[in-house]
Amino acid sequence: MTEKDFLPLPYKTLPAEGKITWKAPSNIALVKYWGKKKDQIPANPSISFTLDACATTTTVSFSKKEDTESFSFDVIFEGNRKDEFKPKILTFFERIEAYVPFLRTYHFNIETSNSFPHSSGIASSASGMAALSLCLMDIEKQMNAGMSEDFFKRKASFLARLGSGSACRSIEGDLIQWGGHEKIAGSSDLYGIKYPHEVNPVFKNFHDTILLVHKGEKQVSSTAGHNLMHGHPFATERFAQAHDNLDRLEHIFRDGDLKQFIKIVESEALTLHAMMMTSMPYFILMKPDTLHIIHKIWKFRESTKTPICFTLDAGANVHVLYPESVKEKAIQFIQNELVVHCENGHYICDRIGNGARRLI
Ligand code: DP6
Repeated sequence: MTEKDFLPLPYKTLPAEGKITWKAPSNIALVKYWGKKKDQIPANPSISFTLDACATTTTVSFSKKEDTESFSFDVIFEGNRKDEFKPKILTFFERIEAYVPFLRTYHFNIETSNSFPHSSGIASSASGMAALSLCLMDIEKQMNAGMSEDFFKRKASFLARLGSGSACRSIEGDLIQWGGHEKIAGSSDLYGIKYPHEVNPVFKNFHDTILLVHKGEKQVSSTAGHNLMHGHPFATERFAQAHDNLDRLEHIFRDGDLKQFIKIVESEALTLHAMMMTSMPYFILMKPDTLHIIHKIWKFRESTKTPICFTLDAGANVHVLYPESVKEKAIQFIQNELVVHCENGHYICDRIGNGARRLI
């Protein structure tokens, strides 16, 4: 599908008002998206586990307004008006307007809340943009009753990408791939797809315990981070490596090869941070506790042969990944040895999930 396929035909009916609620999860990338081109096109393909507990719930109330010249909306975050969120949503509206041309027809009241604590260092842009896109698609669906379920989800992912790249991987579960890849049929730079190849059951019930090492605001926004890949000395190699890693994952997912899975996932996390450390300007987002945790995971894995590994976002927090079969052992280890490295001892137990759902 191309961008043009997401342009709607003229709407037949425009409802006067309405209200819609969607809950969309966060996701954790295994092969990382880091670097983008114009219009939120990723520089390399990525793949992620959709999460379950970490999610954003968004209610959009809409009512027709007189003037259709400008956008009109209010944002309420966890019960309080948040005007500082408006510029990001305005940019989003400007980017998606051609695809959802009803945006200037209504005043929108956007009420949103996260299941995870604010300033936990967990990015809410993926789940937030996914939830908002699903609400907007639900409104469009009211104007086009014949819309298929597949198209609904695909266009929601397409819109979400224009809000925040990784958000396009937060519509469905449980393993989502985004970005054109030669060997992944149906893959696209424009939206995420369910990973189309065989996946061993061992990867169907993975856990992700998120260790909140540092809860402050991000030192570098992800958009600024992505931009540092322009002219980065290792960019070409890195983008090629992401393609290779997705290639290698095909057999790993099929065979349930946890050993090789761990190698790719940890290497991807460290490569992401290596890219940040070798860009100009350079920066380090890991904290001493991040490194302590990584070393403890390696030691525990070596001595107990437990298939447990880590991945990182663009921050200091550590995502500890392990299959259901070692859950008890992993949780014991996390509580005994890793929680001490978390800010105020805080961590979140999450697991692979099935994607967004409509609440009302
Ligand atoms: C490190 O999706 O937050 O989490 O498209 O600028 O909104 P924008 O970036 P964003 O970048 C996520 C980067 C990452 C890796 C990943 O999720 O693939």
